[in-house]
Amino acid sequence: MSFLQKNDDLKKYSIIDTRQFKDPEVLDKVLNLASEMEELSDLSDNWIRNNELHDSEKDRLVELREKLYLSDYPRKPIMVSLFVQPSTRTSFSFTSAMKRIGGDVFGSENAKDFSSFAKGESIEDAAEVIGGYGDVIVMRHPGDENHPGNKVAVNFANSCPIPVINAGAGTDQHPTQSLLDVYTIRKEKSRLNDLNVAFIGDLKNGRTVRSLIYLLAQHSNNKIDLVSTDDYTLKLDMKEWLREKSPKTGIKFYEYDIDNVVDVLRNADVVYMTRLQKEYETGRTDAANNSAYILTPKHVSEMNKDSIIMHPLPRVDEIDPAVDDDPRSKYFEQAKNGLYTRMALLNMVLTEKHGITDWEYDSEKAANSYK
Ligand code: NCD
Repeated sequence: MSFLQKNDDLKKYSIIDTRQFKDPEVLDKVLNLASEMEELSDLSDNWIRNNELHDSEKDRLVELREKLYLSDYPRKPIMVSLFVQPSTRTSFSFTSAMKRIGGDVFGSENAKDFSSFAKGESIEDAAEVIGGYGDVIVMRHPGDENHPGNKVAVNFANSCPIPVINAGAGTDQHPTQSLLDVYTIRKEKSRLNDLNVAFIGDLKNGRTVRSLIYLLAQHSNNKIDLVSTDDYTLKLDMKEWLREKSPKTGIKFYEYDIDNVVDVLRNADVVYMTRLQKEYETGRTDAANNSAYILTPKHVSEMNKDSIIMHPLPRVDEIDPAVDDDPRSKYFEQAKNGLYTRMALLNMVLTEKHGITDWEYDSEKAANSYK
């Protein structure tokens, strides 16, 4: 039986904005699919490395392969990886994810310098042309002063004949990161509601922060503590959005100066550290001060025993490496979870086999929201 898409509007399978996953039930299904991807990866890695699976594990592996591999395609489905901004984790995990579900990948790690963008090609033309070469495009773009990241991502997706996955749009959004973040939180804390989440660092430019806040706000009774210096606070539009959302889901947020970090750490279920995004602060002479944010073992000793520490990585120096051995540090597992989450997302975009609907991208609505 074939599970190829029959629909002629492939755009609707794009993943551009975290809010496409606002329905907790839909999100749950996506995260369950990612769990199966984790199981598939673990079983196959085990087989490759140790060659010792029990018969029941082999049966399970066959069952998962049947369900999750893209083997019904007449050729290997192709992911085009287009990074107009540096990336290691995101691009590598997408590449590994696509190969692990039976797909093929090509692309440019440095599209800014080596592609037609360097010659001044428009985003719309690039989308039209590159869209003819693959089955899904994974794209990261920094945006610029006149074209914020989300607008670029939307323009690209809306001009592209195949699905586009936003792998980071300027300072706006990073939906696949927030999905792997909630996968990690759900795995470690067994829930996505009634959480106290502390965001620490550059809350102004951190797109992972914005995207994750969007998801946390859709679940009931979460409390967000925002810790930053004055010039790196969460942008106003986001705070307004949270205030609007509050009566519906009970989301609350509080802002703290970095001097009060210990009080915040004592109450946190999840501590989400971020680096200063200096690349967006090029005009500044008062070099952003990293040392304000360093999480040390002394800080961690104030935290609850069952709390967790996350970081989208790369880390610069905002988490002392001495914290790495603490069982609450989950950032390396978090990066690994990116693999499973992206396997699930690619699968959902390329097939309709899992029956997970109601997350589709509305190109018209998006075009109107990011004019
Ligand atoms: C993040 C990003 O690119 O926004 N990294 C990532 O995708 N893992 C965070 C960052 O660069 O600080």
